[in-house]
Amino acid sequence: MKWFLLALLALSALICGCSSGDVNNDDDHSAPADDDTHAVDDDAAGDDDTLNPDWYRTATFMQIFLRSFYDSNGDGIGDLRGLIVKLPYLAELGIGAIWLNPIYPSPFFDSGYDVADYEAINPDYGTLDDFRELLDRAHELGIRIVMDGVFNHSSWENPWFVESRSSRDNPKHDWYVWGDEPLFDCHDPLEPEFGQDRWTFDETVGQYYYHFFREQMPDLNYENADLREAVKNVVRFWFDLGVDGFRLDAAHLYYQDAEYCWNHPKTHAFLKELRQVADEYGDRVFVGEVAGAPEKVIEYLGDGRDELQAIINFNLTYGFYASYFLHTPWPIETMMDLTYERFPPGGTHAVYQSNHDFYRMFGLLLGDDDWAKMTSVVQLTLPGIAFVYYGEEVGMTNGHEVVVDYRDAARTPMHWDASPTAGFTTREPWIALAPNHATHNVAVEDGDPHSLLNHYRRVIAIRNARPVLAEGSYTPVVADSNHVFADLRQSADDSLLVVINFSAKPQEATLDLSPTSWGGRVGTPRDLYSGAELPHLDAFSAAAYPVSLPAYGFVILELVGD
Ligand code: BGC
Repeated sequence: MKWFLLALLALSALICGCSSGDVNNDDDHSAPADDDTHAVDDDAAGDDDTLNPDWYRTATFMQIFLRSFYDSNGDGIGDLRGLIVKLPYLAELGIGAIWLNPIYPSPFFDSGYDVADYEAINPDYGTLDDFRELLDRAHELGIRIVMDGVFNHSSWENPWFVESRSSRDNPKHDWYVWGDEPLFDCHDPLEPEFGQDRWTFDETVGQYYYHFFREQMPDLNYENADLREAVKNVVRFWFDLGVDGFRLDAAHLYYQDAEYCWNHPKTHAFLKELRQVADEYGDRVFVGEVAGAPEKVIEYLGDGRDELQAIINFNLTYGFYASYFLHTPWPIETMMDLTYERFPPGGTHAVYQSNHDFYRMFGLLLGDDDWAKMTSVVQLTLPGIAFVYYGEEVGMTNGHEVVVDYRDAARTPMHWDASPTAGFTTREPWIALAPNHATHNVAVEDGDPHSLLNHYRRVIAIRNARPVLAEGSYTPVVADSNHVFADLRQSADDSLLVVINFSAKPQEATLDLSPTSWGGRVGTPRDLYSGAELPHLDAFSAAAYPVSLPAYGFVILELVGD
């Protein structure tokens, strides 16, 4: 129930005093213009004018836990060739990039986050040639591929660690964190699944090794320059193959010591070095999984161009939980103010509702399709990079079987059709399906114009057609209902007003548009989602513009005719 604790923590942070501070609506988060100080390497791909270094800013990502996406060879396990088969489905949905959870060889103590070989593919999923083909096919369809970079720790079966623990004299001994006794205590009480004891004694070398996570996952030692170079070379290996970026796992933990358990200043220094590797290629992205207080995670964006291009905004996800259960937007508004509004120019965030570490949002929303449609509009119309978790678009709920740990609830096979194996495999799936596979699946929803799937297709199409939603400035608009969220999104040549009812009851609200750029405009707001026209807007109605929304209703408005 970590999500619940985290939502409570987020709520208490909001209640006890994170003041909402100054809203700086003029902040420009669009990509920094290239100038002489930009770090793109002169002699590398950065000179290529055909590269688009900012592609990630407007792409709608799908996060895919490959083991559960589509099984092409009937062994009950999803694989790379299965993903290749399903690429057209993703293209039709409007997906512009895929983040793949780890696909490296792994003994699977942590579902692949214990990497046994950084430069190979897990045979359960296919071969390096399959991966090359995936890159080619995806790129042909305009879909980028981002891998999981698990560089805080490796598997204890990784040859790097096998050497490290073979003797104190081995040149790689120092690639991991060893101590004659436990040197510091950094356990995380919110992550009981990893155990509380972070140091394990090794008989061969007569020392303890450090593991923030499980004992099978020893931490890499970033004090060692050879290790740092080896990690950079792993990144280059995949970039050379054509990989478009990395989601950096647990990136706030790279350096730990008695003074800093996370967010160590040296971690920032290393991430800046790593950013230079991306800049050697010109169009590769790092999205950091970093956790902590809003002001700490913002630091991972550096000055907006010299550290990570984007961070996963956990604080905003906790704001989603709080807002959805309290039926009011203020936790989201507050989290936007504490995070996105304070990013350096050019810095952005990844916005998600569900991922492989949490219970699926659709389950938390009690399988209510209308509620889920509303929350998806929140996610897909906020600024930043939207990460949709596979199956979220058809309303997969949480599973019940545990193979590795409780998080398997959100890692069950994709629902492709209503057959007994949900069209995922021809045999027994590696883990039991989520219970709602007969009603919430691609085949059933495809033909229903009102389905969640067709809703996602429509909203993603709007998002892709109007980049102002991903990149424009964000201005919260005051409404006279505690249940109504409104924000104006503005770029140089476009603007959209999003209005959303967080309540299970219809709402009549008025919006004060007078301080916004729509305050001085005249026209008819038209909903891009339904085509409906709203009352005329002019100088008289702007201060109390009326909006009427059904339960969990929403509109994405453009202003026509001024
Ligand atoms: C991943 C988890 C994983 C942990 C250790 C994370 O934050 O998202 O799934 O267990 O890192 O690698």
